[in-house]
Amino acid sequence: MMQILTVGLGERSYPIHIGSGLLGRAELLQPALPNKRAAIVTNTTVAPLYLEKLRQTLQSIGVSSMPIILPDGEEYKNSATLNQIYDALLASRCERSTPLIALGGGVIGDMTGYAAATYLRGVPFIQIPTTLLAQVDSSVGGKTGINHPLGKNMIGAFYQPQLVLADTDTLDTLPDNELAAGLAEVIKYGLIRDLKFFEWLEQNIDKLLARDTEALQYAIAHSCRNKAEVVAADEYERDGCESGGRALLNLGHTFGHAIESGMGYGNWLHGEGVAAGTVMAADLSQRLGWIGAQDVARIRGLFERARLPIVAPDLGVEKYLELMGLDKKVEGGKMRFVLLREIGRAVVYGDVPPVLLQQTLEACVHG
Ligand code: NAD
Ligand code: GLY
Repeated sequence: MMQILTVGLGERSYPIHIGSGLLGRAELLQPALPNKRAAIVTNTTVAPLYLEKLRQTLQSIGVSSMPIILPDGEEYKNSATLNQIYDALLASRCERSTPLIALGGGVIGDMTGYAAATYLRGVPFIQIPTTLLAQVDSSVGGKTGINHPLGKNMIGAFYQPQLVLADTDTLDTLPDNELAAGLAEVIKYGLIRDLKFFEWLEQNIDKLLARDTEALQYAIAHSCRNKAEVVAADEYERDGCESGGRALLNLGHTFGHAIESGMGYGNWLHGEGVAAGTVMAADLSQRLGWIGAQDVARIRGLFERARLPIVAPDLGVEKYLELMGLDKKVEGGKMRFVLLREIGRAVVYGDVPPVLLQQTLEACVHG
């Protein structure tokens, strides 16, 4: 079974195909491949698994493909690796009409998207996400970029793909900890805007961990639907309202990004940082008197059942504050947090009393 969703952005709207066996479905890719040539950007882990299959599919419609195989890891999501993409494209004289296809997880998707946004000032871009995290979040919505030694995802561009092809069969080879990391972003949608989905996740988390096909497809499609709605309403994250906007997708990320960069890129998975960071955001929301202790326990419980960390690493309060000061949501030097008014309703809030933040930072590193 295949589901097709749409990210509604006027003439830049695009489909998200979700289902089994899609890597072999040339007709789904064809509309985004007007020319006979494409470049596939992937990494040393994904290439042996899925590159040949994709190349054969492209070949079947007469499209020749040039693979660009990068080293694997968040620690390579940087300007040096990005340059390897530009080098390969220039060396083989890829033109403005040559699409870049990202085949891999969020790291490959974000870097390839940024290369597509900037190479020759913009070339067509296709997302073929192969991790749960990339299928539910990073391949949709057009945020692309790389890390900087001083901060996560600090260099980038908004650049939408022409299509997203999420073949759920690729999840068969995903390690368990990577599947769990993807679940952190799935749980996020329930927390920020979809109480019913949160309740469904509480009931079905074991099926998801057991890779039940039907449950996974439901969770992926439901997540993508949530993401597509948020992106269509606020593509460039400009909505300054407390109650809305794309910034809400960053629940747990202010703390999570600090964990990721503070621990050294690649040591904590992005989804792991988001899980522990969301527990911190829940703790802070409770300290503000917005949610109750039983809500925080419920949130911790779901992350724990998803085999995700709920205790943050002890980087020291000063280090957390320094790293969080680099967050992209900082405005006029003021930190803004995505916090929970209730389970299923998040807000952006810029008036957190420093003493409460300090308490959260101290409490959450000790469990
Ligand atoms: P990742 O890209 O590092 O992939 C995780 C690991 O799984 C890697 O080792 C990868 O090689 C491997 N892998 C990928 N597909 C596989 C498969 N099918 N079978 C076996 N192994 C496979 O990590 P991720 O969790 O996919 O993405 C995290 C990145 O996404 C972070 O850099 C984060 O900042 C970014 N992100 C971006 C957005 C966005 O909106 N652009 C949203 C969320 C996260
Ligand atoms: N993952 C956050 C966003 O896409 O806005």
